[in-house]
Amino acid sequence: MTNNTSIKQTFFDRWAPSYDWLFPSVIYQAIHQRLLEYVNLSTSANVLDLGCGTGKLLNRLAVNFPTIQGTGLDLSPEMISQANSRNYYPQRLRFVSGNSEEMPFAEAEFDAVFNTISFLHYPHPQKVFNEVSRVLRPGGYFYLVDSYFQWQDEFQYLGITPGGLNLYSPTARAKFGKEAGLNLQANYYLLGAVLLTIFTK
Ligand SMILES: C[S@@+](CC[C@H](N)C(=O)[O-])C[C@H]1O[C@@H](n2cnc3c(N)ncnc32)[C@H](O)[C@@H]1O
Repeated sequence: MTNNTSIKQTFFDRWAPSYDWLFPSVIYQAIHQRLLEYVNLSTSANVLDLGCGTGKLLNRLAVNFPTIQGTGLDLSPEMISQANSRNYYPQRLRFVSGNSEEMPFAEAEFDAVFNTISFLHYPHPQKVFNEVSRVLRPGGYFYLVDSYFQWQDEFQYLGITPGGLNLYSPTARAKFGKEAGLNLQANYYLLGAVLLTIFTK
């Protein structure tokens, strides 16, 4: 694990026990609610939530799509422990720790991949896109939700979170997708500067 990744893991491990009760989580849940308006899943879909945190999005998806299966992956074992303690659909949802840059999943294993407010933490964004493309089946969807930066392709904030935050323009997102073999379908503004970009494989 690189130093930057281990700094992020420690940061999120410490945040995990109080994550659901602090203000940012209220905003993130409002974003999940808005995201649902754009999600289309078959009844038997197998979905992955990258950087799943405490598992709120997957539990919400499980309510709205009562027969889907879901896997949550997160760098922070403490986030995964919180997700497991509040897994309301244990027969359909599972949570595992791991890095979005090297996912412990097979090729074409998932029908859809979700990623909410986590991409900005990744030191090697193209690697993550390549991995998403690998684990998605042909015709599958990638729902990328994150703050974006309008005035240049890539913008780095240092000092807000350990390891910094990286924001990308819609054009930069499309380039990552193209390089990984994912086609941009649409961009939608969900809340403030949070942009949903939908790709298909
Ligand atoms: C702000 S939280 C968002 C959690 C959740 N997606 C939500 O919408 O509430 C960011 C999450 O990304 C995870 N994360 C950061 N870097 C990661 C990486 N390289 N691989 C997997 N997860 C990562 C963190 O551990 C944290 O749980």
